Amino acid sequence: MYSVKSILLEATRRLRGVSDIPNKEARILLAFLLKKNQLWIITHDDEHVEEEGYFKLIDRRIKNEPIEYITNSVSFYGKDFYVDSNVLIPRPETEILVNLVASTCKGIKKPRIVEIGTGSGIISIMLAILLPNATITAIDISKEALHVAQKNAKKHGVDIEFIHSNLCENFHEKNFDIIVSNPPYIANDEALHVGLSFEPNMALYGGSIGDEILHKIIDIYRDKNVKYLACEMGYKQKESIANYLKNSYFKLKFYKDLAGLDRGFLLEKS
Ligand SMILES: C[S@@+](CC[C@H](N)C(=O)[O-])C[C@H]1O[C@@H](n2cnc3c(N)ncnc32)[C@H](O)[C@@H]1O
Repeated sequence: MYSVKSILLEATRRLRGVSDIPNKEARILLAFLLKKNQLWIITHDDEHVEEEGYFKLIDRRIKNEPIEYITNSVSFYGKDFYVDSNVLIPRPETEILVNLVASTCKGIKKPRIVEIGTGSGIISIMLAILLPNATITAIDISKEALHVAQKNAKKHGVDIEFIHSNLCENFHEKNFDIIVSNPPYIANDEALHVGLSFEPNMALYGGSIGDEILHKIIDIYRDKNVKYLACEMGYKQKESIANYLKNSYFKLKFYKDLAGLDRGFLLEKS
């Protein structure tokens, strides 16, 4: 039988090869298993811990499964969301996209927002919290992802219309204010870090070049009576997106992420 202190030491040692923060992850997984908070973990060094269940979790992490899938939890925009392997793990840079849409919608009394590719629902849910007057529709091609998004909407007490659809095939409304999307944008043949192999392919791969789905979303924006389109994109896709839009009359503004990489754009019909 291990004590909290000794089992954390052993788990930290085992996690060293896989994690940059082995000690922290060891504590998170122990807190998750014991259904305790971090304060309890650091103040109960001598408490006895049953090791079998804990080392099973550590083994999953050693096989590179993301800790968010093991604990079914991720923090985004300071809030806790449920995640499982049916959805992309939200990335911190997507908070910039949420802020961009929230500030773009500020002057609109009752913004009508449509999200394409909602995944865990984090973008739509945060927008519903930040813009209580907004009406939001969230679309995804994956039924399983929509279940996760619905679960999160319920958890955060927001009302969102969810639609199961390939892009906007099952969504025929023409007039609204803004489309937002963080679509899959990785090229089909790009070699990925092993941790990403746990995430759904449908959430990652955007076509043989990578930005094909982004192009389709731009086409949808072109066809509908929508003022704005805000999208996240791959850091090497600025030129190809600018090219795709070069004969359009839309106002195009790119934005960068916190690492200074090109990360997305806002389109506006003038
Ligand atoms: C990169 S994930 C983004 C998830 C979430 N919005 C986020 O930012 O964390 C892309 C999402 O788009 C969905 N998706 C992929 N192709 C789609 C399509 N053709 N139509 C609708 N949704 C699609 C995937 O299922 C996935 O949930």
